[in-house]
Amino acid sequence: MNILAIETSCDETAVSVVSAEGHFPRATYTVRANVILSQAKLHARYGGVFPNLAKREHAKNLVPLFRETLTQAKMYAEDEGSQTLDAQTKDKLTKLFEREPELLKQLLIFIPTIKKPLLDAIAVTHGPGLEPALWVGINFAKALSLVWNIPIVPANHMEGHIFSAFVSGDTFILPEVAFPAVALLISGGHTELVVIRDWMRYERVGETRDDAVGEAFDKVARILGLPYPGGPEISRAAAKGAPNSEYKLPRPMIATSDLDFSFSGLKTAVLYMVKKIPNLTEEIKADIAREFETAVTDVLVKKTLEAAKRYGARTIILGGGVTANKTIVKAIRTTAQTLSGVTSVYTPDPKLSGDNAVMIGIAGLTRLFAGETAKPHTIKAHGTLLLS
Ligand code: KG4
Ligand code: ZN
Repeated sequence: MNILAIETSCDETAVSVVSAEGHFPRATYTVRANVILSQAKLHARYGGVFPNLAKREHAKNLVPLFRETLTQAKMYAEDEGSQTLDAQTKDKLTKLFEREPELLKQLLIFIPTIKKPLLDAIAVTHGPGLEPALWVGINFAKALSLVWNIPIVPANHMEGHIFSAFVSGDTFILPEVAFPAVALLISGGHTELVVIRDWMRYERVGETRDDAVGEAFDKVARILGLPYPGGPEISRAAAKGAPNSEYKLPRPMIATSDLDFSFSGLKTAVLYMVKKIPNLTEEIKADIAREFETAVTDVLVKKTLEAAKRYGARTIILGGGVTANKTIVKAIRTTAQTLSGVTSVYTPDPKLSGDNAVMIGIAGLTRLFAGETAKPHTIKAHGTLLLS
């Protein structure tokens, strides 16, 4: 079974082909193609993701990235004139891409030049994420579905981040996860703790009340005069900072009995701290970055371990762009060893920690195994889609 996966929820345009042989959860998965185009540099001047720019860039780049994906997957076959689109199909596509005329134009040129690829389904992220950005991917999926009569499986971006922790190499099987598991999902838009009682059975038990962790990294980087995305910049600076400098920050909500987080106050604390410093040298920036990273790590470790204890977790799963942060991952791994019940900690390969379409392909295949395709006209962008 071959699935084409499309991810456009934020500032990465990603397309992949993943195949599966056998039955869930013992299927063998193969990553046939994994193409990602990051828009981070374009958004840098806004200090964060600018939704309309993200949407425009997705629309501009999807067709070339799709071509590259098919080529990587060895599914690209030129076939001039074999697929002339009839007037009715063209009409439907024109309606579908009312707001993306450039994408329509590219697609109308591209489709008739190739043979229908051997795809059994199309997985597309329908949320959570930026709705204008999500719509581009969804409409693209609907267009391909219409032209080639291929079913669509809507995929949840956060479920994708969970699955990305299980990818190892290009051909792999899912590990035999001991449930219940606790997943800590940390990205630019999300910070949540999820209890997973079995495959695809989720219960959110904690979340941020304001900023997401990645967002806090990005904002603190901006305060320190470091470019977007701030996560990697902060961790680079933190590596040069002193462990116990004079710069002290709070650990928000570390002692509360719930499993929620709050990072907005931490960011404000950095802002006030920086305002009082007349000469913000590179050394001071590094010390503050280190203290900020440590504060975030302390809170994430405490709440994740608490969730694991409370729900009797046997497995911990980390997912989302912030898992590229080695300090955070190492601290959670080390402390998880002190919990007798936890036998495994899964984290994504750094190549797949950020947004990608491989994770959407795996989530899509899993939902396909469960028989969950959707009629194209019912698929919509859900900015705040929850795991279910
Ligand atoms: O999952 P992701 O690629 O996109 C969203 O779904 O949001 O996560 C992106 C976030 C950004 O906020 C970025 O600054 C953060 O992940 N990030 C990091 C690191 N690398 C990326 N945060 C902390 N440390 C890092 N090394
Ligand atoms: Zn993400």
